[in-house]
Amino acid sequence: MDRIRIKGGAPLHGTIPISGAKNAALPLMTASLLTADTLELLNVPRLADVALLLRILENHGVDHSVAGKRPGHTVETGQAIRLSAASVIDTCAPYELVSRMRASFWVIAPLLARFGEACVSLPGGCAIGTRPVDLLLKALEDMGVVIEIEGGYVKAKAPKGLQGAEIVFPKVTVSGTHVALMAATLANGTTVIENAAREPEIADLAECLNKMGAKVSGAGTSRIVIDGVSRLHGTTHAVMPDRIETGTYAMAVAMTGGDVVLENTRPEILDNAIEVLEQVGVDVKMTNEGLHIHRNGSGLSAVDITTNPFPGFPTDLQAQFMALMTRAKGTSRIRETIFENRFMHVQELARFGAQIRLDGDAAIVDGVESLKGAPVMATDLRASVSLVIAGLAAEGETEIHRVYHLDRGFEALEAKLGRCGAEIERIRAS
Ligand code: UD1
Repeated sequence: MDRIRIKGGAPLHGTIPISGAKNAALPLMTASLLTADTLELLNVPRLADVALLLRILENHGVDHSVAGKRPGHTVETGQAIRLSAASVIDTCAPYELVSRMRASFWVIAPLLARFGEACVSLPGGCAIGTRPVDLLLKALEDMGVVIEIEGGYVKAKAPKGLQGAEIVFPKVTVSGTHVALMAATLANGTTVIENAAREPEIADLAECLNKMGAKVSGAGTSRIVIDGVSRLHGTTHAVMPDRIETGTYAMAVAMTGGDVVLENTRPEILDNAIEVLEQVGVDVKMTNEGLHIHRNGSGLSAVDITTNPFPGFPTDLQAQFMALMTRAKGTSRIRETIFENRFMHVQELARFGAQIRLDGDAAIVDGVESLKGAPVMATDLRASVSLVIAGLAAEGETEIHRVYHLDRGFEALEAKLGRCGAEIERIRAS
């Protein structure tokens, strides 16, 4: 298995192009099942999760082509993927594929909407809590779907087609909102989703669905209204920038000091996380070139955060922020309210000499003067990049094992950091 080796201590200076968002690309690719026409997606990141979803779609009979690099493109220039679900041959998504990535479960919605049936394995994904699918299934039942669970598979049928419904989510769920939204586009009548997730990736999906002929309004707010249509057509859509990658590199710069421009991204998609970074002592400024992130030599202030659905502080930046707080002046309290088991990075950060203790759903971080490089293990996608951030600032050498977690969500990480002055290399498994 590949490892990443980092020699810490170098401040970051330069530019980092931000890739298309993984969490937008996955539902957008899934939406290709809603039409027999071609859906062309631009700015799709080169990630293991994208490749896996392509395999899953292929298994259903979706034809796809991935445009190679064009002249002038760099390694970080997103891919153009054309997907055509004109001849779907199988509405079953098998365990071997779905168990490796939770978001692949979402194919259940377009399959039901277009074909009236789906058989999808219960999902897997990052080990960050139980992550059930009860709310997704309840939303589909509200739309008239009959569901049976048998042998680890969800067998779902809507013989008379999906019916528009009033769906009220008891808690904010990104997956539930994506599934209800996709299903409702082809339902009979109007669907209203109350307490919908407001994440920008939901609005990106809705924008693409509307270009395909759907009638969606209110995406990005907590009330989404969808008037069902009888068919959708093809379109071209560019995936929005990755806000988690944006926030991660901003925190890396905060950690090491320096001055970096994050290109092809937008500050509003980070919302609360920008205010938090400013309180920590980071200058964040939008210019024509991109998002400028700057921290001079003065230290980091300790700030308390609580993760929340958008526009709150994202759970997907919690581990990175904890790495940052390990070197802040004072004590920071980090509360995780979205996932119950999302502190696996704590014991790995402790290997750098960080002082962190757990208190229920919170981690209390006492900032230390300096971190020391260490061999560490990546445990999940976002936790692994928190170890990169710690390693960039630690004295001496850090080696991160199990980096396949990183490859699921961070495109060309070593190249992007390396060209800003980080001493980072991948050691390929022989
Ligand atoms: C998505 C993101 C993930 C991010 C998360 C929260 C993608 C591909 N993944 O995950 O990176 O960390 O949003 O911002 O976009 N829940 C239930 N029952 C359900 C569904 C969810 O109890 O049926 C719970 C979950 O266990 C969790 C909470 O609701 O505690 C939020 O989950 P959800 O918003 O659905 O997260 P994902 O869509 O899985």
